[in-house]
Amino acid sequence: MGSPQITENPTIAADEDEEKGISAECKELILGCRKEKGWRTSFLYEFQGFWCQPKEIDAILSFQKHYLARDSDVILATIPKSGTTWIKSLTFAIMNRNNVPVSDGNHPLLASNPHDLVPFFEYKLYANNQNPNLSILPKPRIFATHIPFGSLSESIKSSDCRIVYVCRNPLDTFISSWHYINQLRRESRPPIPLEEAFDMYCKGVIGYGPFWEHMLGYWKESQERPNKVLFMKYEDMKEDAISHVKMLANFLGLPFSVEEEKQGLIEEIVKLCSFKKLKDLEVNQNGKSIKNFDNKHLFRKGEVGDWVNYLSPSMVHQLSKIMDEKLGDFGLKFKVCSTVS
Ligand code: A3P
Repeated sequence: MGSPQITENPTIAADEDEEKGISAECKELILGCRKEKGWRTSFLYEFQGFWCQPKEIDAILSFQKHYLARDSDVILATIPKSGTTWIKSLTFAIMNRNNVPVSDGNHPLLASNPHDLVPFFEYKLYANNQNPNLSILPKPRIFATHIPFGSLSESIKSSDCRIVYVCRNPLDTFISSWHYINQLRRESRPPIPLEEAFDMYCKGVIGYGPFWEHMLGYWKESQERPNKVLFMKYEDMKEDAISHVKMLANFLGLPFSVEEEKQGLIEEIVKLCSFKKLKDLEVNQNGKSIKNFDNKHLFRKGEVGDWVNYLSPSMVHQLSKIMDEKLGDFGLKFKVCSTVS
């Protein structure tokens, strides 16, 4: 076995790798973008008003050019660490319940991570392929994205496809992001200190952020077109998963029948997609999904209010003020509460 390679300047090496394989169009575009130090990569670039890594920008450009939405498509949208894995599993179970009974011991969710069952546009479909042939996928197709509403392809906005948006209290999303990023940072990089990450988060500099713009884009659309965008909150889903699964099925045009409700199908779906059930599966303990990252990092605590264990009173004050100023006027509020002891 050879000795480990010593890189004199890990930041420069990382930079080259982060831009490896991206198109000439993307390379040229990012030259003109504002950039800030990234959380996991060397830099995040401000692209179409949100912060992104070069490879993500390249994939988003292809998506915007080529993706053609069908009326029957369902798009799951989130900002990272807001409950993406959960909403993917719930939507998959609801929409496929007639093909695969939820109680089936061979249910796909028992053997595959939700990210492999519901692909991201920017990390999977358009990541290494400018124009994948998505027309061969059976209807209804379920896709996922972290892209802000304003940058979705025009065909999503103009077609009758449905969008489900899940957001989460920023205090918890920040803590979840900070833990996740520190798991993913290369060995050559030390963990990012909490205070440094917090400053970046409050400035809006986080993948797909600022978080307030991300939420408002989908929030406003959900108010104007409630049949187009369903807006849900992670905390509300935790509090009452049953009624949210019901609401989701109604929105998707696949309401539960009286018979299904009597049989306890909703409870079964909630159980199948629960944090504990998914976390303990072999595929989620030892498998890899998005960008070859370990699935186990996708399941940390799955609780509301873990921020109380990390944030100082002044940090809570600062972030709550931002939430109030940016979101309050639009009627988007989060309770500053915790169920964590
Ligand atoms: P914590 O880090 O607070 O535990 P995403 O799926 O968007 O990456 O979000 C990850 C967060 O959702 C993590 O939060 C993770 O533990 C939690 N999570 C993952 N699967 C879940 C599930 N089935 N139910 C509830 N929360 C879940």
